[in-house]
Amino acid sequence: MNILVIGDLTEPRAVAFLESKLWDYRRENAIDLVIANGENASFITGPSPELVTRMLNAGVDVITGGNHTVQNFRLHPMLESTPVLLRPANYPASVPGAGYTVCDVCGYRLLVINVLGQVHMEPTLDSPFDAVDRILSREVGNYDFAALDIHAEATGEKLALAHYFDGRIQIIFGTHTHVPTADARVLPKGTGYVTDIGMCGAADGILGIDRDVIVARCRQHLPVKYAPAEGEIRANGAIFALNSQDFTAKSVKIVSF
Ligand SMILES: [Fe+2]
Repeated sequence: MNILVIGDLTEPRAVAFLESKLWDYRRENAIDLVIANGENASFITGPSPELVTRMLNAGVDVITGGNHTVQNFRLHPMLESTPVLLRPANYPASVPGAGYTVCDVCGYRLLVINVLGQVHMEPTLDSPFDAVDRILSREVGNYDFAALDIHAEATGEKLALAHYFDGRIQIIFGTHTHVPTADARVLPKGTGYVTDIGMCGAADGILGIDRDVIVARCRQHLPVKYAPAEGEIRANGAIFALNSQDFTAKSVKIVSF
């Protein structure tokens, strides 16, 4: 079984890119399920309902979120009505939506969880360790494989979560920094892991944002108006191959298309 995970979509053009490429990419690479982080699909603020619908039609099966997802109030009803649209699980229960879902992949039940890190992140939510532990306990017997999107800034925090859940979750990947890391591997107890899978956005910008805007912000420390970068869109991600004999990850491969 092959699961493709795609990093943060940075703007609406990234959605159009997936609309034009993803179904072909799925067929060519025998992909059984796609998870994509959609929190920035409307550019910085949480995704619009229209873009969520387009992502799902483009071939994304589960949309994960992050620190911006619930900032878009128009999305709140859809967070309540769409089980495959996630916001981080460690938000308070009063926040609309859910932080995990169980979906079918090749006849197996895949539990997909999304959490927000606590290090250098705003807002600072409850412990992601405890939030995931609670979900795994609550859903015992209701899933065969599990996947976790850790939306976080700090590499060490993502690694700590990965080792803590090694062997209990088969797919663990990081999002939020928009910069892919080169550490894809299978951990000792069978968890496939990448610290950050990067983004789906304009490759020549700075994290998907116009270069001049970010350089000016860093040099002058004055308020700036953000704008998406121009130029070619690329999708960064990873393919996790799962072993249905022993319920481990067989391999993790970094991909870009
Ligand atoms: Fe983020």
